[in-house]
Order: sequence, then C-alpha cells, then structure tokens
Amino acid sequence: MSYIRPAGLQDLPGAYRVCLQTADAGADGSVLYENPDLLGHVYVGPYLVGQPDFAFVIADNHGVAGYVLGAADTRRFEAWQERDWWPSLREQYPLTGGATLDDELISHLHSPVHSPDAVAERYPAHLHIDLLPRVQGTGFGRTMLETLFDALRARGVHSIHLDVGEDNHNAIAFYRHLGFVEVARGTDSVYLGKELS
Ligand SMILES: CC(C)(COP(=O)(O)OP(=O)(O)OC[C@H]1O[C@@H](n2cnc3c(N)ncnc32)[C@H](O)[C@@H]1OP(=O)(O)O)[C@@H](O)C(=O)NCCC(=O)NCCS
Repeated sequence: MSYIRPAGLQDLPGAYRVCLQTADAGADGSVLYENPDLLGHVYVGPYLVGQPDFAFVIADNHGVAGYVLGAADTRRFEAWQERDWWPSLREQYPLTGGATLDDELISHLHSPVHSPDAVAERYPAHLHIDLLPRVQGTGFGRTMLETLFDALRARGVHSIHLDVGEDNHNAIAFYRHLGFVEVARGTDSVYLGKELS
C-alpha cells in the first residue's frame, strides 16, 4: 500500500533515487548522469534538510515512490543554501568547464539558477514534485500538491511557483489542469504560478 507522510532524513536515499528516475522530462534519467548524487544535491537534499515542514513522500514497501518538496520563501531559502548547503559541495566538486549533464549540475552548484525576481516576488514559494510510474496517474500528484499547499497556507504562504522543462508536456498539462498559469519563460523551461488562497 502506498501512502503520503511527512519526509524525514531517512528518506534522502529514496528521494534522490526518485529524482534520478524521473529526470529525463519525467522518464528515467539514470543513464544520463555519471554521478548519481548530483541531481539530488540540487533538487532534493536542500529541501528535505532545510525545509522539512514542506517535504512529503509517498512511501510503500518498495521504498520512496514519490515526493513533493517546497520552499516557503524562495529568496530566504536561497540564502540558507548559500550558507549551509552549497559550500561543502563546491569544495567536493570544483568547476570542470565541461559540457556533460554532470558538468552542468556542478556548474549549478557554483552558480545556481534563480527564479526571475518578478516571479519570486509575486509567487514567493516554489516546489518540486516527482512520482515514480508505479504511483502516477492515480491521484497522488493532486493529493501531494494539496498536502503541500495546506502546509504552506497554515504558515501564511499564499502563492507558489515552479519551473518545468518546456519538453515535459505531461507535467505542464498536469499543472495547468490544477490551476497553474504561465508567468515567465526560462532558457529551456517555463515558470508557472498559482494563488493558494
Ligand atoms: C506530473 C506528475 C506529478 C502528475 O502526478 P499524477 O499522480 O500522475 O497525477 P494525478 O493522477 O494526481 O492527476 C491529477 C489531475 O491532473 C490530471 N492530469 C494528470 N496528467 C494530466 C495531463 N497530462 N493532462 C491533463 N490532465 C492531467 C488528472 O486527470 C487529474 O485530474 P482530476 O484530479 O481533476 O481527476 C507525475 O506524473 C510525475 O511525477 N511525473 C514524472 C516526473 C515529473 O514530470 N515531474 C514534474 C517535474 S517539473
């Protein structure tokens, strides 16, 4: 049986795995990355460690099957990352100057891509959600988002944004169905925003 619960530090390995296995526009990206940790260091670890009140997983007897991770105040979260998350990773992974996907992630550790000011000001919170195929398409995505939204509302947060790859048509359609609207364009991504109240 799969069920949603608040994430704990024990979920880090499973959540990192989910991140990798959904990294290719929603499909398994395991073969695309030589280092299996880098994606999780960017998209999972800092949320689960730094914003635990807004981290939820889908658990079942095979492990972690999905997560939703939020940051209540994007700019404050970025400041926390600069202080407490990136420094040891920058030391471990010096800039390579290469052009592989691993190199791009290492570059991100050193110079994180931030949401545009207009987006972060208007929609201060942001989120990431990824579900493995075994729990997709059965309502978990909606329930996970609603669980996160409830937690954010309870802390006085009333709008949220996210960044989705422009080739991830399934996720974009899902977000639009749940009321997100396009608010900006990135290099190869779309920023979507939503009011929570
Ligand atoms: C995108 C994702 C989170 C959606 O979760 P899900 O559990 O498959 O979606 P749900 O079953 O909860 O669907 C919720 C609603 O969205 C609708 N929906 C889902 N996918 C849709 C699509 N492609 N087009 C239109 N509506 C869609 C469902 O019909 C459902 O509608 P209803 O609740 O009104 O009946 C999930 O498929 C996933 O993790 N995919 C791989 C990773 C990924 O792409 N993550 C996003 C990265 S930005």
